[in-house]
Amino acid sequence: MKTIIPQLTKLVSWQALEAHYPKVRELHLRRLFADDPTRGERMTAEAVGIYFDYSKHRITDETLRLLLQLAEESGLRARIDAMFRGEKINGTEKRAVLHVALRAPKGQAIVVDGKDVVPQVHAVLDKMADFSSRVRSGEWKGYTGKPIRNVINIGIGGSDLGPVMAYEALRHYSRRDLTFRFVSNIDGTDFAEATRDLDAEETLFIISSKTFTTLETMTNAHTARDWALKTLQDSAAVASHFVAVSTNAGEVARFGIDTANMFEFWDWVGGRYSLDSAIGLSTMIAIGPEEFRAMLDGFHQMDEHFRTAPFERNLPVLMGLLGLWYNNFFGTQTVAVLPYEQYLKRFPAYLQQLTMESNGKHVTLDGSEIDYQTGPIYWGEPGTNGQHSFYQLIHQGTKLIPCDFIGFIQPLNPLGRHHDLLLANVFAQAEALAFGKTPQEVQAEGTPAGLVPHRTFEGNRPSSTILLERLTPEALGKLVALYEHSVFIQGAIWGIDSFDQWGVELGKALAVRIISELETGAEGQLKHDSSTNTLIQRYRRSKELSHG
Ligand code: F6P
Repeated sequence: MKTIIPQLTKLVSWQALEAHYPKVRELHLRRLFADDPTRGERMTAEAVGIYFDYSKHRITDETLRLLLQLAEESGLRARIDAMFRGEKINGTEKRAVLHVALRAPKGQAIVVDGKDVVPQVHAVLDKMADFSSRVRSGEWKGYTGKPIRNVINIGIGGSDLGPVMAYEALRHYSRRDLTFRFVSNIDGTDFAEATRDLDAEETLFIISSKTFTTLETMTNAHTARDWALKTLQDSAAVASHFVAVSTNAGEVARFGIDTANMFEFWDWVGGRYSLDSAIGLSTMIAIGPEEFRAMLDGFHQMDEHFRTAPFERNLPVLMGLLGLWYNNFFGTQTVAVLPYEQYLKRFPAYLQQLTMESNGKHVTLDGSEIDYQTGPIYWGEPGTNGQHSFYQLIHQGTKLIPCDFIGFIQPLNPLGRHHDLLLANVFAQAEALAFGKTPQEVQAEGTPAGLVPHRTFEGNRPSSTILLERLTPEALGKLVALYEHSVFIQGAIWGIDSFDQWGVELGKALAVRIISELETGAEGQLKHDSSTNTLIQRYRRSKELSHG
């Protein structure tokens, strides 16, 4: 079925937003708050335990009304329903997009190609739970009879970033007597450093790859097998030390992993939407099956909210629309994600793949060139570290950078005044960005005239504050699903395919050609541009010299 993409910039609501923007651009948040003393309570939404304060955005009620009209007019409701119904909304790969099925409770039916996929999801979850419990209890033994003490996930992109982020985020709930490491980079240093102090007899490798053909992962997997067999000396040991997470049973078997030790997922799970599939096996081993299921429940609660809540109270919709407002009307280029929670230190890196691989597209679903901006650049660091590095630019630089502040009311490690100080910083930063400090206020402090401009903060810099009670597995599920769905709604309005990633292909293909040129030589044959040829020749010559 061909998706009809309405021409976005011709929509009545889009044009109304274009006409509305110059008026809002002139408004200062100081004025907006002064004119409406209830703004800070009114412009908030709360659902499934997430409090979303969007009052410090450069919007009026009219802006919101028009953005919501845009959501309706661009057919967002139909796109959401199509996703939940299992329609093949990933048009270029002709695939359904059903990460929501990964967290659907038993009994709910989601049908793809005439088959309810929810029972398969639960069968894999049960298999993961059984395996995780055996590793955690010490019942699963290495080849020489020692229990597993180290778990190494080998994967890249969605088969790495989700597992690392979730492990770090939920470390508080993890088994501290097990060591977890994550190897992704093809740079040998990643593998070498991850294994240098480990005993192969106590180490389990999880080879995570949807395709089981990814160069980095397969190279690391082969290196891992060599490393393990150097100690274990018998290829039969692979069965005790290697398991696979993949959609590709054939390649798993070819690698030498018994498919009985393979945890399956499906082509309707995108790599960057897979941390709650079997790709989360390392997470389940770390926190246990019960906590993993609590995380899935958190995801599901947000899915249900997203599916059923009216747009004006729908957190992912509101968040996505606000992002679009800055991206397409203010012309902002980036979004800063600032979690004030140390355990979320890898959350910005995880979001980079989720958001940028999803929405970094230049054509619509039907292949037409796009004449408006699509996905912004996401970046960030946990607070308060960023405050002593890049916040200067956010406060006083010439660029407008919408920020997402993420905070939790309860600390996981209560320690003296630390948590009050942490939360004071979240609220202070959002306040400072919004309201700034006028030259008059700076002067009134007795600042020398020459310094007044330097010490002035113009303010009017937008942010959302996302508050949750406590970082639990359930809360993490809700937070990730919030971003997943807000990325989807933006992509749906832009009319792009948020679930393909053709942009990664060219570099991969060129690398394959260059690899053989680096390894086999034949300088005269190089047929690249003069820069690439020279780089290859230089590398080859230095390599030859260093090898004598
Ligand atoms: O190269 C991009 C990508 O395809 C991502 O979308 C994916 O998450 C990653 O590579 C890893 O792929 P795989 O799980 O198949 O190894």
